[in-house]
Amino acid sequence: MVIAIDGPAGAGKSTVARAVAAELGFTYLDSGAMYRSVALAAREAGVDADDGGALGPLAAGLEIDFDGRRVLLDGHDVGDAIRTPEVSADASRVSVHPAVREAMVARQQELIAAGRYVAEGRDIGTVVSPDSPLKVFLTASDEERARRRAVDTGEDVETVLAAQRARDARDIEREHGALRAADDAVEIDTTGLSLEAVVGRVVALARERGLA
Ligand code: DC
Repeated sequence: MVIAIDGPAGAGKSTVARAVAAELGFTYLDSGAMYRSVALAAREAGVDADDGGALGPLAAGLEIDFDGRRVLLDGHDVGDAIRTPEVSADASRVSVHPAVREAMVARQQELIAAGRYVAEGRDIGTVVSPDSPLKVFLTASDEERARRRAVDTGEDVETVLAAQRARDARDIEREHGALRAADDAVEIDTTGLSLEAVVGRVVALARERGLA
């Protein structure tokens, strides 16, 4: 079973999903880390991020696991390597290819079937788990999202804002697994809200629905 937390980059998904998982005793699943791992593996193998034909089999052959807070790619901790600006840009490009998405969605469904998860991504409530009993769609203003990411990465806000607009456009416009709220998602605009307020709202929804 999965609580789905979808939304654009910088809306607060990771922090909220981690905190909700900790509070409810569920496992946190970071689907973005999986697309980032594909991008990293492609770089290491010298495969272009636009080469869908080569990326499909590469993605299907990867072993991606979550071990507490760590992301393991073929057994190695890639937590830092997948967060560089270069890998962020490539992750957005590799994630448009249907064969890559198919491989990641299958792996996510396999993980979710075996436990209680809070999963964050773009398509958890629409594609990975349309039957999820609680779907949350987090948003925040463009400027607020860029400010948050700039604090994390140390880049300046304008640079982040430009990269973010390009990634948002790709995420929204792609044909497969496009970023959109499920019809039955609860939308929360986190601009100006504290982390505690957002987490409290999601946890309350989970309890109201008898999930925890
Ligand atoms: O959430 P994030 O920034 O770590 O995601 C990295 C990239 O992966 C982002 O450009 C969109 C893509 N992604 C996706 O296509 N589907 C998901 N479920 C999660 C992330």
